[in-house]
Amino acid sequence: MAKVKTTFFCQNCGSQHAKWQGQCNACKAWNTIVEEVIQTPEKSDWKSPTSAIKKAAVPLRVQDIDTSKEARLDTFDGEFNRVLGGGIVPGSLTLLGGEPGIGKSTLLLQISLKLPYKTLYVSGEESQKQIKMRAERINPKHNNCYILTETKTQNIFKQIEALEPDIVIIDSIQTLHSDYIESSSGSISQIKECTTELIKFAKETATPVLLIGHITKDGNIAGPKILEHMVDTVLQFEGDRNHVFRILRAHKNRFGSTNELGIYEMQGSGLREVSNPSEILISKKDEELSGNAIAATLEGMRPLMIEVQALVSTAVYGTPQRSATGFNAKRLNMLLAVLEKRAGFRLGAKDVFLNITGGITVDDPAIDLAVVASILSSNEDISLPKDFCFAAEVGLLGEIRPVQRIEQRILEAEKLGFSTIFVSKYNKIALKNTGIKIQLISKIEDLVTVFLG
Ligand code: TYD
Ligand code: MG
Repeated sequence: MAKVKTTFFCQNCGSQHAKWQGQCNACKAWNTIVEEVIQTPEKSDWKSPTSAIKKAAVPLRVQDIDTSKEARLDTFDGEFNRVLGGGIVPGSLTLLGGEPGIGKSTLLLQISLKLPYKTLYVSGEESQKQIKMRAERINPKHNNCYILTETKTQNIFKQIEALEPDIVIIDSIQTLHSDYIESSSGSISQIKECTTELIKFAKETATPVLLIGHITKDGNIAGPKILEHMVDTVLQFEGDRNHVFRILRAHKNRFGSTNELGIYEMQGSGLREVSNPSEILISKKDEELSGNAIAATLEGMRPLMIEVQALVSTAVYGTPQRSATGFNAKRLNMLLAVLEKRAGFRLGAKDVFLNITGGITVDDPAIDLAVVASILSSNEDISLPKDFCFAAEVGLLGEIRPVQRIEQRILEAEKLGFSTIFVSKYNKIALKNTGIKIQLISKIEDLVTVFLG
């Protein structure tokens, strides 16, 4: 029996230390070093030693590197393709993180069931029967998807060698363990080792691997940060569990932009792609109520019309409450201060609640003007016309600032039947003959004048 070897790992950055210490030398974090049992990985290889005779790599000129095999694999899921930048790159490792119950397993199972390629779905969390039951709910006509319930990487690679799948899905990386390391599944050294083995397998066979990763309480992917450095793409599946919408974002993407966004709706039969989100995010009401305004925002390359709701009421308790859902609370306070100082509204003694409908979070600054308009509307109890929308940033001086790609926002608003869009006077707009009225404003007072006369 091999002697038990232990070493010390930093839970924050994954660096290894010879002894325990209070602070990690590498990332300077305190109290993050933990002891873990390991065994020196004499030979960590995804294949049997005979088949592992590797060709030594030789340097190549950029133009001589063969990229013909890099053609992306279509996932047959428009939203997933968009977030990845056009499909899965062969040999890439993609990590999908998200809170428990958000639908990570559902999303990847659903994609594997749709794929015409041979797919291996490895689950360390659920039994084959459970997965089958889920598969029946999602897509009863599954064809080329194999399910394996296994957690030991060596066994998984054995099955992979026999089956030769085109795509491998692992649910989840925290349940895997490798024989070369003695510590328990989910520990830093196990996660590192299993990921290294999977990367080696993916790169050598050009098979893409999709990993599911758990996240910790503070929203980071459980395990060392190094996991995120090791993989090619990190996707985050987010949303409010009480809402039906789920949002897929790329936090890191070696093969595409990280601005793209995929939107899904959780239904009884799996996740439905929402290809025209604007129509769903705006509630359809007949009567006009005070306190809401529509913002023409952009998420990645995609224009998105979002409804902002505000409720301003007299504070019952001493300290007024300010709360924002889906919007930065500090930014809300700043906008309230601007309204107070530049437009003379006494909001200091009022409770202000702000909500972005649909459970999504927006950080496009162009939403500012809609936030201000919804607050004004609620404060004055006047309803804004339903077919008005807004796209501009508000500065500290109360100036209405231009935002990027304004034409795209205007065209989307026009397409969805809005009659007027409020934008900054300083935006250069090349559009001519639009069917939508473009109202140019330069300061917050202009907005007040339009609505309150
Ligand atoms: P799951 O994919 O198990 O989440 P994760 O792997 O991220 O932990 O998601 C499960 C949730 O989704 C569960 O609460 C039930 C719900 N669900 C549906 O609403 N419809 C469906 O068709 C499926 C399969 C799940
Ligand atoms: Mg799961």
